[in-house]
Amino acid sequence: MSQARQLYRAIKRHIIGSINRRRDVASVFEMIYRKNRWGGKAGDFFSGGGTGNEAIAAQYIAAIERLADLEGFRGMKFLDLGCGDFRIGSRLVPLAGHYTAADIVAPLIAHHQTHYHGPPVDFQVVDMIDGPLPDADVCFIRQVFQHLSNSQIAKVLPKLEKFRWVIITEHLPSNEHSAVPNLDKVHGTDIRLMRNSRVYLHLPPFSLPQSQLTTVLEVPGHGFDGGIAEPGVIRTLLYRPQSGV
Ligand SMILES: C[S@@+](CC[C@H](N)C(=O)[O-])C[C@H]1O[C@@H](n2cnc3c(N)ncnc32)[C@H](O)[C@@H]1O
Repeated sequence: MSQARQLYRAIKRHIIGSINRRRDVASVFEMIYRKNRWGGKAGDFFSGGGTGNEAIAAQYIAAIERLADLEGFRGMKFLDLGCGDFRIGSRLVPLAGHYTAADIVAPLIAHHQTHYHGPPVDFQVVDMIDGPLPDADVCFIRQVFQHLSNSQIAKVLPKLEKFRWVIITEHLPSNEHSAVPNLDKVHGTDIRLMRNSRVYLHLPPFSLPQSQLTTVLEVPGHGFDGGIAEPGVIRTLLYRPQSGV
């Protein structure tokens, strides 16, 4: 991408960030879906390339199936926080004894309540930042933190301590060594990768014990509309908050 184009994109991100800073999280993500900012057809709910790309989705589902057997959580209570369009979550439902799918966008949850026709799922409007989290054994947070600010992520982390297993997926730059950890951002469509940064949960301001974090899967990322050249990698971590440090 030319330098002029990079500058144009950076200015655009800055302007959108200034607008989003003044808007609450629910209305920003509701607008993202209403205006199809992550793609999809007008009127559809679409959560972006990390969801819609079958190679990425299939490897994720297979990895969670393996992990469920390894860790022994098949048939337990699952909570999918920031479930989005539910293309991924709906494929995890058969592994669970009880499945709660939660998102902050009320029209998205209402859509799932009327259009989803698989095995039973409890769809709930939940704000993981400022609200309480439903109970579960296993909690999935897939490609959500990457869209939130550091202080918003920091508010969620202590609430995760009640789960035995937390499975967190993030889209990161390919070159980990040159990436700047935990650059702050305003909640919205974009992710830190676009500024060569990423969420490192074991580093400040989060500082989760590294001994409680294990990499489960890493797959090549997808491209972005509008010419971000870096496809990045999509990494899934298992966080065991209740294991000894
Ligand atoms: C990129 S989508 C990921 C969707 C899904 N997890 C997946 O991997 O396909 C991020 C989702 O997080 C949701 N989200 C953002 N902030 C949230 C919050 N505070 N509480 C609950 N959901 C939130 C958004 O509405 C959006 O649906």
